[in-house]
Amino acid sequence: MTLISNKIHYIGTNDRKKHLFENNWPLPYGVSYNSYLIADEHPALVDTLEYGSDPDYLTNIATILEGRPLEYLIINHLEPDHSSMIGEILRTYPDVTVVGNCTTFKLLANYYAVPQEQKLEVMDGSTLSLGHHVLTFAWVPWVHWPETMVTYDTTDKVLFSCDAFGGFGTLDGGIFDDEIDFDKFYLTEMRRYYSNIVGKWSDKVQGAFQKLGGLEIKIICPSHGPIWRENPGKVLSLYNRWSTHQAEKGVVIIYASMYGNTEKMADKIARALAQEGVKNIRVFDVSKTHVSYLINEIWEYNGLILGTCAYNGQMHPMMHHLVHEISVANPKNKVVGVFGSSSWNGAGVKTLKKELEAIKITPTEKSVELFGVTTDDKLQGVKEFAADFASRL
Ligand code: FEO
Repeated sequence: MTLISNKIHYIGTNDRKKHLFENNWPLPYGVSYNSYLIADEHPALVDTLEYGSDPDYLTNIATILEGRPLEYLIINHLEPDHSSMIGEILRTYPDVTVVGNCTTFKLLANYYAVPQEQKLEVMDGSTLSLGHHVLTFAWVPWVHWPETMVTYDTTDKVLFSCDAFGGFGTLDGGIFDDEIDFDKFYLTEMRRYYSNIVGKWSDKVQGAFQKLGGLEIKIICPSHGPIWRENPGKVLSLYNRWSTHQAEKGVVIIYASMYGNTEKMADKIARALAQEGVKNIRVFDVSKTHVSYLINEIWEYNGLILGTCAYNGQMHPMMHHLVHEISVANPKNKVVGVFGSSSWNGAGVKTLKKELEAIKITPTEKSVELFGVTTDDKLQGVKEFAADFASRL
């Protein structure tokens, strides 16, 4: 429990047990679930936690409230990492008023039974006075579910932003941006969170920026990751950059290789790109590195080169999986190239090009494909491919 501002308490927790967020995205450094309690004249809880993540959660609320009942439960977002303690809150505080928008209540009915008289349906821009603090609500649908809204405290200028401005990684002692070395660790994990979870909805993030643009924001309290009180402009700037698909000059090369020939091509292409002056080059084996990290790297750089061997008359299944995930995450403004190897029919590169075009990604006209082993006498095409690609970055 930590006081953030006048009567606003952080009552979040860290999850170091879970291996996969949404049972999909690796959590080697864990994740925090942030919940906030405004212990005002009319106490309000802003979002809850994932069920079972903190056995002390209800005790913490009771301690801060000193015997007073919780009057409001504000639901910014219903994904269970923030909402699965709602049942416990309803059982502990049976008279609590649940605050949400029309979509919140439509979805909530699929999870919890809340008596009609305990629902407070707010509109976009509605206000709610807690006594000292006056809250207002802004709908930000699809950041990252359709019901999502943010809550803004007009009194202390605090934005409870839910998934927006969040990141992976537990809060290891430091909770606030001025207590951590953000660039050393959290920056990469935040971009991975953005690209994996929120990136698909980048246009909606831009819509949220438009909507929140006029607010004076002194503190940002997201539902994951650090709280921004010293420099909230930094996380706003990062999210603006990522949601407008701005990227560093550089190339991510990702290959699928069964017996090493496509891998060798990847290294040859990387070397040729370096000789063309490209400084940021990252090479990955799609069969080894989880797609979560690959999408993160793809978001960071403006060049992407995919390579595959042929496999059962198509491309390698792991490359097929990556292309699917790229189509979901939908990174934009990339220069994309393809390469590959095969033993007889070139099915890998052919299929890769076809699948990219099907998701509206047009690779550079020049591609490179080798048959059999990657020997020096076959490498002229690699050099020409790399020179052409580098010139387009
Ligand atoms: Fe952190 Fe969309 O939930």
